[in-house]
Amino acid sequence: MSTTIRVRIADRREEARDICGLDLVAADGGALPAFTAGAHIDVHLPGGLVRQYSLYNAPGETGRYRIAVLRDAASRGGSAAVHDQLLPGTELHIGTPRNLFALQASAPHHLLLAGGIGITPLLAMAEQLWAQGEAFDLHHCTRSRERTPFIAHTAAAPFAARVQHHHDDGAPGQRLDLAATLAQAPAGTHLYVCGPTGFMDAVLSAARTAGWPEERLHREYFAAAPADTSGDGGFELEIASTGRVIPVSAGQSALAALLAAGLDIPMSCEQGVCGTCLTGVKAGTPDHRDQYLTPEERAENNQFLPCCSRASSPRLVLDL
Ligand code: FES
Repeated sequence: MSTTIRVRIADRREEARDICGLDLVAADGGALPAFTAGAHIDVHLPGGLVRQYSLYNAPGETGRYRIAVLRDAASRGGSAAVHDQLLPGTELHIGTPRNLFALQASAPHHLLLAGGIGITPLLAMAEQLWAQGEAFDLHHCTRSRERTPFIAHTAAAPFAARVQHHHDDGAPGQRLDLAATLAQAPAGTHLYVCGPTGFMDAVLSAARTAGWPEERLHREYFAAAPADTSGDGGFELEIASTGRVIPVSAGQSALAALLAAGLDIPMSCEQGVCGTCLTGVKAGTPDHRDQYLTPEERAENNQFLPCCSRASSPRLVLDL
């Protein structure tokens, strides 16, 4: 197991309807590792689940990590465990912060687009950009005001004037006009999006249609849309270093087959969003089902995420 830190829940509060905020401090009272905006931590939950949550506090704070979690009706158990069991005083293990959603230092402007609880990494970005005196705008789209976390927090922030809220149940005039927002962004703007899959797909597709290049589009998925697995068949994995062939059955993930065969593949989210299980592919064609790789990376067919992706050729030769 990678390095973990024992922490204690020092504070817990309701940030909005069905959203709780948690402050985690080191159980031994020491400092926590520093992090950068966009970073997330693995949270090892009671019952053995591991889930990723973005840190939303100002980067550089080492006395506590702040996360916020939506109770998801479609939860596979993670958000329910947080809401029901992580009470003040609870101790648990977390991973050290990892950042797969970093700010681009050279960007002349940053456009931060958040859907619902996806505000968390973007809030840390707003804190960091403000502290560095960089130009940005943050738009937060939610179903309603009562479901909007951090309204008071952003209103009191020094960058409050850079934040706009958009509620689905509000007046039409306050809804996010995506096309206009993209069109008005200064030349060279980098876009960062985090939120529900439908929201992120809509933002990324609008940006691509408007001609934004992939290198200026940054996204962080935390939950994958359910995949249609009805047409899945079996395939084979060949380990390049040994020549060993491992069959993957129709109802089995490539990751499960590799682990069952005794290979040590790091993993975390098990749904194609975190990138932890990324594995090199030397031959064959992956059937990419993840939300982590960019379209360009997928097209190269030289890596895949075995926790969710499969093969469209009979065999994949893995760089293991
Ligand atoms: Fe997260 Fe595979 S374990 S992408």
